[in-house]
Amino acid sequence: MTAGEDPGFAQLAERIAGRTGLDVGAYKDRCLRRRIAVRMRACGVASYGEYVAILDTRPAEFDLLLDALTINVTRFFRNPETWAWVGAEALPRLLLAREGRLRAWSAGCASGEEPYTIVMLVAEVLGRLHHPDWLPRLHVDATDLDRASLDTASAAEYPPAAFSEADPAVIARWTDPAEHGRRRVQAPLRAVVHLRRLDLLRESAPQSAYDLIFCRNVIIYFDRPTQERLMDGFAARLAPDGLLVLGKVETILGAARQRLQLVEPRERVYRRAG
Ligand SMILES: C[S@@+](CC[C@H](N)C(=O)[O-])C[C@H]1O[C@@H](n2cnc3c(N)ncnc32)[C@H](O)[C@@H]1O
Repeated sequence: MTAGEDPGFAQLAERIAGRTGLDVGAYKDRCLRRRIAVRMRACGVASYGEYVAILDTRPAEFDLLLDALTINVTRFFRNPETWAWVGAEALPRLLLAREGRLRAWSAGCASGEEPYTIVMLVAEVLGRLHHPDWLPRLHVDATDLDRASLDTASAAEYPPAAFSEADPAVIARWTDPAEHGRRRVQAPLRAVVHLRRLDLLRESAPQSAYDLIFCRNVIIYFDRPTQERLMDGFAARLAPDGLLVLGKVETILGAARQRLQLVEPRERVYRRAG
């Protein structure tokens, strides 16, 4: 039996949708069940019905469940080879074509490491191009479903582990020391990142004509029709020649394949065709 056929599961899905608006039906069944099972085990219950009863009486469990469903692992310069490719092959061309103006969207930005990485990389590339006047020309939308992650993104202060994949010299240039060995992203970089809660399953992009859309390690949790719908939406929101960067194990499915041309297979980078 799939989770969707269990009446207890339907009740659970209803509770989650009622409280958060999240449509769990669009998530892959197996992933979803595994995550919910972790919380059920932690609560010592064996059926979805019993778990719903716990959610109804223990509001804190709701937050733990949402945390488990929207896994928000991320890091600065996660998968450095992807950023190396974007910094060497994509940004110089885009920045020259757009006269230093750039609009990016980190869709599913978690706690902010990805959008701040975009800003740091642009700053680094513009520095190499001897183009100091970059700040007013850069706009990065950063959206996620999870409010707690967005709060962390807004504080922009991170422990050393968040920088484990990054070049220490780059991090030293764009962050300042904070308490307990943490580092805070510098104010001018924070100012160009526009954080907002957005459910990718229900809402479209904050703006259109993005030069870069990063949606990494997000669609992997969604079922195929949802992935296809999202890809169509991303294709429509890219500027001509704009790039979509997916996670390393993610790929474009369905009709969007006509509109998004694969330009770097290893790093899963696609360009809007036409
Ligand atoms: C694994 S993190 C990816 C973070 C970052 N993109 C990266 O690759 O390092 C997945 C993020 O997707 C978000 N997410 C899951 N479902 C979502 C939805 N329906 N709408 C918006 N964000 C969602 C989660 O809250 C989580 O922060």
